[in-house]
Amino acid sequence: MNRHLLSINDLSREDAILILDTAYELSNISNAPIKKLPTLRGRTVVNLFFEDSTRTRISFEAAAKRLSADVINFSAKGSSVSKGESLKDTALTLQAMGADAVIIRHNASGAPARLAAQQWMTGSVINAGDGTHEHPTQALLDAFTIRKHLKSGADLSGVKVAIVGDVLHSRVARSNVLLLTKLGAEVTLVAPPTLLPVGVEQWPVKIVFGIDDVLGHVDVIMMLRIQRERMTDLFFPSEREYSRQFGLDSDRLRQIPKTLIMHPGPMNRGLEISAESADSVNSVIVEQVTNGVHIRMAVLYLLLGGAQRELLTAVNS
Ligand code: CP
Repeated sequence: MNRHLLSINDLSREDAILILDTAYELSNISNAPIKKLPTLRGRTVVNLFFEDSTRTRISFEAAAKRLSADVINFSAKGSSVSKGESLKDTALTLQAMGADAVIIRHNASGAPARLAAQQWMTGSVINAGDGTHEHPTQALLDAFTIRKHLKSGADLSGVKVAIVGDVLHSRVARSNVLLLTKLGAEVTLVAPPTLLPVGVEQWPVKIVFGIDDVLGHVDVIMMLRIQRERMTDLFFPSEREYSRQFGLDSDRLRQIPKTLIMHPGPMNRGLEISAESADSVNSVIVEQVTNGVHIRMAVLYLLLGGAQRELLTAVNS
């Protein structure tokens, strides 16, 4: 496995399955009275967040602490970044503090790759979401959740997944397309042409232009957030019109009693997904957050040099 996790492309199919299997073993810790393993004792993990986050930042912190690592939380707001300090000087400062892993979220696509390539730091770099590029641990937790509900085998072969909405601005969609297809799933993108990226025809996916085309034909429907904060243009006539063509509303919910409903969060309830759909029995949106801790524990564990054999001994002892 690579030292860094910058993109799903850094993982072979076998690496991805190893992370999912390791996360499954680690999920047993969450049911134990003491939710802690000593495996990363003495290691330092830095959460370096230049962009807002709730789920990813907190779950990486919980994951590192459950493995007994020391955690330093850094957010750009309130740091010397607001005085103009560069990514390089920030990285050198963290290196001076002995960081073994840096988890970085940045609004610039490619910032984690730059941090890794420049070798300002000796530790592992983990991409926690960069611009509109990638969010690999989100895709891993999504694959873990799908596998848990729909598959008994190692991969996701034959599982049909629709990813619906603002694909253009979504790092989650890009990472999921790469990972889910690597694991054998069939992926359909559902979006207006204005919310699809240039070159999407080269992606290994089907593309349709209305949510009704996939209802009842897929095992999983993954709704994406409309990312208003990244929109510099008018991408659809109105929110009401978008919701009518692409939203998972209550009428559509009734047509898919057996479909797994997912959303990476945060949600715009009433826009891409109705409250009834988000809170329905088919929804695994809250469980995705729980599974995020297991996946991030597995990623930290494996990148910081753990072997699965040692892990099994630690989990079972
Ligand atoms: N899914 C996700 O990345 O959520 P946060 O922005 O809250 O981390």
